[in-house]
Amino acid sequence: MKAPALAGSKFVTGAEAGPIDTVLNGRPNTAMQAFGKQLSATDIAAVVTYISNAWSNKATANIAQPADVLAVRK
Ligand code: HEM
Repeated sequence: MKAPALAGSKFVTGAEAGPIDTVLNGRPNTAMQAFGKQLSATDIAAVVTYISNAWSNKATANIAQPADVLAVRK
């Protein structure tokens, strides 16, 4: 499947736990892989903050911290 646009995505600009979970754990049976073993909590917080606020996205509530990633990782 073609990767959906991150710009203008309601999922990406919605509650940050959603994009954090997607980047950490991937999406089963799609090309979207889990990055939780390659990227630190700090890296994932940074990339989620970036995609939530880059391009036309302005989800300023999604300034993710490493602790937010650890909370989703459990
Ligand atoms: C660190 C880099 C990446 C980030 C931050 C990222 C982020 C995301 C996010 C947030 C979504 C959900 C989008 C939405 O539902 O609106 C998504 C979905 C997806 N991504 Fe990634 N992604 C990354 C790398 C990749 C790579 C390298 C691939 C392919 C080789 C990929 C393929 C996909 C696909 C196919 C989906 C749709 C999955 C589905 O159908 O539910 N992603 N990605």
